[in-house]
Amino acid sequence: MSSWLTNAWYVAAWDAEVDASPLARTICGVPMLFYRRLDRRVVAMRDACPHRLLPLSLGIREGDSIRCKYHGLKIGPDGVAEEMPLAADKLNRSICVETFITHERHRFIWVWIGEAALADPALIPDLWPCSHPDWVFDGGHYDVACDYRLMIDNLMDLTHETHVHAGSIGQPEIMAAPLDCRVEGNAVFLSRWMPGITPPPFWREALRHDGPVDRWQICHFLLPAAVMIDVGVAPVGAGATLDRHDQGVRGMVVDFMTPQTETSHHYFWGMARNFDIHDAGFTARFKRQQGGVFAEDKAILEAQQASILANPDLKLRAYSIDQGGVRARQIIARAIAASSAAAGATA
Ligand code: FES
Ligand SMILES: [Fe+2]
Repeated sequence: MSSWLTNAWYVAAWDAEVDASPLARTICGVPMLFYRRLDRRVVAMRDACPHRLLPLSLGIREGDSIRCKYHGLKIGPDGVAEEMPLAADKLNRSICVETFITHERHRFIWVWIGEAALADPALIPDLWPCSHPDWVFDGGHYDVACDYRLMIDNLMDLTHETHVHAGSIGQPEIMAAPLDCRVEGNAVFLSRWMPGITPPPFWREALRHDGPVDRWQICHFLLPAAVMIDVGVAPVGAGATLDRHDQGVRGMVVDFMTPQTETSHHYFWGMARNFDIHDAGFTARFKRQQGGVFAEDKAILEAQQASILANPDLKLRAYSIDQGGVRARQIIARAIAASSAAAGATA
């Protein structure tokens, strides 16, 4: 059994990544290719020619179809062959590749990897700050050589900022602040409130203010593999609380972890914010800074994964700082078990 939920929507790409030329990407163990038709709808299909399995992503677009680069089999956007390598050879509908259902929302291309009949767009995680008119959102993508759940652990435990991101967003006060963890259905919330502290450089520059601030972090896990983190600072005395905090600068770190293999994943990271939303230059600088911060996580997590593989006799331990990740993993495991029980009942 895989370590990920199968009947679920996963982010396959940023909206800007999928264009007329095929994009190859392995999603949940399945090599896929993605491209846009002329009407801009996204096609997703298995990245293997039905003839000799050459990746179709190496092929040539012809209208809304794709022609294999090896012997020229032409496949339509519905996955069915339209022309054989030799015109004399008979076409039939069984010469086809598997296609997948896609949906575009929140700046992402989502792909459904389970039973097609269950692919309801209402099940796409509600990453609302990515589509809200009063917020601006941008970000990037990293291939990370580790189990996607290690990234969820990392995002649900921000004590690591103190050491991993010492030069940008980390500060010792993060270690001192008490944690509150609560589970609501399939969601986990881990909150931390840091009153009257000196802001780290990243937030001081965003706030354009030098005095002490109240700082908050609220990590929110959503199935199958998303974490949104409500973060920001407000000047002391501005009235910000853990429940209401639009008095200073507020951002929502939006992360989606799409499994690639059991030990690698696609990390779609970004930041939505509700301040300076028309400043495109700031958005670009912010994204560059954030990309640098997440590259620090990538280096740590890849080293952690290598160490896990090199020490198969050792176990991961959980301390109190790990409670958010532990709860998220329990929810994932429960959902996988429920889904396979349901599949067993209908088999
Ligand atoms: S491998 Fe694609 S046509 Fe032969
Ligand atoms: Fe981090």
